Amino acid sequence: MSKKFKRTLITAALPYANGPVHIGHLAGCYLPADIYARYLRSNGCDVKFICGSDEHGVPITIKAKKEHTTPQAIVDKYHELMKKSFADFGICFDIYSRTSSKTHHSTASDFFKTLYNKKAFTEQVTEQYYDEDAKQFLADRYITGTCPKCANPSAYGDQCERCGTSLNATDLINPKSTLSGSKPVLKQTKNWFLPLDKLQPKIKAYIDSHPEWKSNVFGQCKSWIESGDGLQPRAMTRDLDWGIPVPVDGANGKVLYVWFDAPIGYISATKELLPDSWENYWKNSDTRLIHFIGKDNIVFHCIIFPAMLMEHGDYIVADNVPANEFLNLEGQKISTSRNWAVWLHEYLNDFENKQDVLRYVLCSNAPENKDNDFTWKDFQTKNNSELVAIYGNFVNRTLVLTHKFFEGKIPQANQYLKEDLLVLEELAKAPLKISNCIETFKFREAITELMNVARLGNKYLADTEPWKLIKIAPERVNTIMNIAAQITINLAILSEPFLPFTSKKLFDLLSIQPLKWPSANNTNNLQSNHQIAKEELLFAKIEDVDIEAQIEKLKQSKIETIEAIQSIKQETTFDDFTKMDIRVATILSAEEVPKTDKLLKIILDTGIDKRTVVSGIAKHYTPAEIIGKQVCLLANLAPRKIKGIESNGMILMAENSKGELSFISPEKKNINNGAEIK
Ligand code: MF3
Ligand code: ZN
Repeated sequence: MSKKFKRTLITAALPYANGPVHIGHLAGCYLPADIYARYLRSNGCDVKFICGSDEHGVPITIKAKKEHTTPQAIVDKYHELMKKSFADFGICFDIYSRTSSKTHHSTASDFFKTLYNKKAFTEQVTEQYYDEDAKQFLADRYITGTCPKCANPSAYGDQCERCGTSLNATDLINPKSTLSGSKPVLKQTKNWFLPLDKLQPKIKAYIDSHPEWKSNVFGQCKSWIESGDGLQPRAMTRDLDWGIPVPVDGANGKVLYVWFDAPIGYISATKELLPDSWENYWKNSDTRLIHFIGKDNIVFHCIIFPAMLMEHGDYIVADNVPANEFLNLEGQKISTSRNWAVWLHEYLNDFENKQDVLRYVLCSNAPENKDNDFTWKDFQTKNNSELVAIYGNFVNRTLVLTHKFFEGKIPQANQYLKEDLLVLEELAKAPLKISNCIETFKFREAITELMNVARLGNKYLADTEPWKLIKIAPERVNTIMNIAAQITINLAILSEPFLPFTSKKLFDLLSIQPLKWPSANNTNNLQSNHQIAKEELLFAKIEDVDIEAQIEKLKQSKIETIEAIQSIKQETTFDDFTKMDIRVATILSAEEVPKTDKLLKIILDTGIDKRTVVSGIAKHYTPAEIIGKQVCLLANLAPRKIKGIESNGMILMAENSKGELSFISPEKKNINNGAEIK
């Protein structure tokens, strides 16, 4: 840690309390933050590690609607579940608080009032989207539409998850209410805005002063500031009924924007942890503030929250924001709603006491610079051929041989040969190598270096073959096993940030108290003749059947999701249904539309007329095979021009989970063209 700082305040993004914790959460932010915090503690630094549940915002109210319950019930349920999962995986927060706490409500409220009194906000009456069916304003995630930047068709009203752009709902193209599915209308309402446009020079100077930030983070910030019209004013209040009431006159029915209140949660949680000394951490320039987050949070932590803090004036801003990219699962985006995830609590049911295996795999595969993929096969391989075959094997050989040759007492080294000195030299370099990686947030490289220590030990034993030497040169074996023990103890120390459960077990096996980082490499750590415990396996092989079961489970959730998707459409009325004129028609001719690979131009006999329909089925049917087929046609769909051809209706298709299409045809032969479907 640089000399300039006396203490470190580490925050990890407050997760929304709307679902259990999955591997994406862990890999994206909580695991690196935990490794970092443990590492600093092991080095005797003054460090606090802060987190808690984010209990406001639309994600919570949407979940409550889905589960037919209240937002309060949702946050109460998930807060506990999440807190437990983090604890189970050894994520060592100093506090895991929640934004529904009293302290937080008053802290956020006061923060708003301070900015309000300083006239930091602009008060603006603007047109916001309003759902006339649901009779409410549609903030943030209540509204979806097409991203104006990257054309992602399912961007949210506050942000596009594909390109990371922070949006205002009115930026979306073809906006749609997620409540009723209807097209929202614009209605006037008053809100308080943070004029990011005016603050832009300050924010730019702040970002520019941190060229050392990870390039994905620095680059994103720069592009927001520099692209298009630059930063735009952003409303810090919302017309919603779930959240912290806006503490000024004339704000009835309005709450603080969740991205205003949530990051203040870091401050409130520190207050709860250290009622008397929290200001030392937040208001002192010799504190180093570091936010660990996922990439979808970059704009909020690098631009909006710092702007709030600067406007307030009393607080420090982040010195670094090491954001990770996303972790995918078996090639697909992790999704809570589609149940495409590995949930931590379920993992522990299936892989009891294997927290460190998951920590190991997620760290060595962390999406540090680009999105990355978690696969169960890779999980198995990393366990079996790295943790078991290298780390576990080395430690086990060392313990077993020490018992076999020396009754479990560490022997004294006598004469060091060249090969011993080389190994000791390599070993001596390990702590610094790992430190350098961790301090620059390169956790993947760090854990590789850790594994190299086990590799070094493994190779040393394989090269020196003490099991052979014991008969011909027993003196030599003393030295070899002493060095093996030194490597083992270094492994125990250096593993602690990454594999805390394993580290603890290893210290127990060595029968010594856990040692701190600086003492790594202190070769006097083990007194000779020190008695160690009976060996125990650190890691066990994971069998194919266990992996297959996990893959099967995922397949199952995919099937269930597909079924679910079919049933999740909004309720509709009979009247709406009867507005659709669906009829049986026969295909008279079909031809490919030139310069496309999907479209067929089809002429149908509808019993009433002959008409042209352009249909995107060329990948599924050839023109020849469909002529003469009876199909179902939505006949009163407004005409549309497709590739210059006017299409008058839509042929109904059934689609399976692989995206394969099939016509729907009348089962009996006595159905004439024009027969109505009802
Ligand atoms: N709840 C947000 C999310 O899950 C993160 C909030 S981080 C904080 O994306 F800064 F607001 F606390
Ligand atoms: Zn986008």
